[in-house]
Amino acid sequence: SLSKGKIEFENVSFSYKGAVGDPVIKNFSFTCLPGQTVGIIGSTGAGKSSLIQLIPRFYDVTSGAIRVNDIDVKDWDVKELREKIAVVPQKNILFTGTVIENIRWGKEDATFEEIADASKVAEAHDFISAFPEGYETRLGQGGVNLSGGQKQRVSIARALVRKPEILILDDCTSAVDVATESRIKESLKRYAENTTCLLIAQRISSVMDADQIIVLENGEMVGYGHHEELLKSCKVYQEILQS
Ligand code: GTP
Repeated sequence: SLSKGKIEFENVSFSYKGAVGDPVIKNFSFTCLPGQTVGIIGSTGAGKSSLIQLIPRFYDVTSGAIRVNDIDVKDWDVKELREKIAVVPQKNILFTGTVIENIRWGKEDATFEEIADASKVAEAHDFISAFPEGYETRLGQGGVNLSGGQKQRVSIARALVRKPEILILDDCTSAVDVATESRIKESLKRYAENTTCLLIAQRISSVMDADQIIVLENGEMVGYGHHEELLKSCKVYQEILQS
């Protein structure tokens, strides 16, 4: 359908339960069209992670509404909603087990070919294949210890194998070098052509070629547009670039 992967925020405010002071998200409105890639940038504590966690209802808005595929998330069956959305969190959540078990997690019927394809896009296939036991290599206790960047790439492969309608990457390439990150983004364009992507980042190079970029500060949208527009018009964006 035409609304597959569409996300709308309407006057969303959000406070964590029991927290005092200003809301973490303040009166945030935004529409992300199906298939778009939207970058979200802002300093630490700006509210980026909190914002995206509202979409799969890890938390509920305090006021306002979020719609996915034109339906209020509160009217979705939570399980169905979460099946459409893959979030790669900031802190990766790999478990003790083999590489293939970790990638297949959440999509138990994935074939080896699908797993290898997703791993190629995530730039994980080559280092996995280089292990003597390949995809059967055990991670963690009694197995290999991946580097931070390798763990992030396995986590991305895990999200991709699910072929979500909405893919949310929460600052999950921070430990991946810029050249590798750029190859992942290039491959993603083909692999996830019709997938709506939300890309949270700290560095401008991670979001600069997104269709739209949101600049978040203290829970508020202080800038919105393309890279060039923001360079001209958004002071916070310029500051992030120079930091
Ligand atoms: P980075 O991840 O550091 O880049 O920041 P961010 O932009 O993702 O901000 P985040 O959404 O993590 O935090 C926004 C604000 O919410 C900060 O003031 C946090 O201290 C606060 N916060 C985050 N998680 C929680 C939580 O679980 N409970 C409470 N009470 N506050 C939280």
